[in-house]
Amino acid sequence: MARFVYVNGQYRRYHEAGVHVEDRGFQFGDAVYEVIEVAGGGLVDAERHLARLERSLNELQIEAPMSRQALLLVIAETVRRNRVREGLVYMQVSRGAAKRDFLFSGKSLEPTLVCLARPLSRASREASADKGISVISLPDIRWGRCDIKTVMLLPAALAKEEALKAGASEAWLVDRDGFVTEGASSNAWIVNAQGELQTRSLSNDLLPGVTRRTLFDVAQSLGFQVKEAAFTIADAKNAREAFNTSASGTVMPVVKIDGKNVSDGLPGTISRKLREVFHEHAALYPLGYGFHRPK
Ligand code: PDD
Repeated sequence: MARFVYVNGQYRRYHEAGVHVEDRGFQFGDAVYEVIEVAGGGLVDAERHLARLERSLNELQIEAPMSRQALLLVIAETVRRNRVREGLVYMQVSRGAAKRDFLFSGKSLEPTLVCLARPLSRASREASADKGISVISLPDIRWGRCDIKTVMLLPAALAKEEALKAGASEAWLVDRDGFVTEGASSNAWIVNAQGELQTRSLSNDLLPGVTRRTLFDVAQSLGFQVKEAAFTIADAKNAREAFNTSASGTVMPVVKIDGKNVSDGLPGTISRKLREVFHEHAALYPLGYGFHRPK
């Protein structure tokens, strides 16, 4: 349980923290967010996450609440106060609070910044990765700017509920032409028949995942080719391997799609290797607490 939450300049007790009832994030989904992994004594790929946050804010013309360096200090302090050594930071910036009105231009809105950090055991994540996860496919019913990390997550929440009902833990979303855009909260990958790592190229249809980006570096250093091209659910079912990437799951092997085993139904060797070495390639923003990078 997160014990302290940063809200607009103050570290509040979890149960006492709150934002205004007319916050635009609450009324209009007018907010963006980031999730950053805490591991090995630092923040994993913090700069890339904060660069994406700045981009999201820019695209929506939301004022940045503070500089990148100041944000890093807030995150570090939130992690420290919650004594998180392995876990996740969640940061959200909304356009601010105002009397309910669709229009926002010309109003002097102060952005709302919330930052919380909570532990997430490495052991439980490793256990999922050892078994691999099941996914189901669903139509992608989201809006036209999925490249912006907004809190408008209702389609993703509904998709994950559907997945749960089907005994799966993620949904791969499929566009009108039958191609996978991404997972409800992850980027989707396959290892194709040529042994290439294949993932859809970036566009307005999917989030430019930070883990996805870092995996390009990992792939290069291991000598794997990355092919940026869309694939169908049929391609994925017949692929050598499949996996997801996200800050919370790193590289997560996918062993079943719509009830059908991918390959032999076990996490693939390439996916496992990528997962194993991922943190050696990701940048670490040190939190300076004297604990060490996990092996
Ligand atoms: N989800 N695609 C979507 C739709 C996502 O929500 C996420 C992240 C990703 C992967 O991005 P990254 O590698 O930068 O985490 C792709 C986060 C973890 C979440 O909502 O919890």
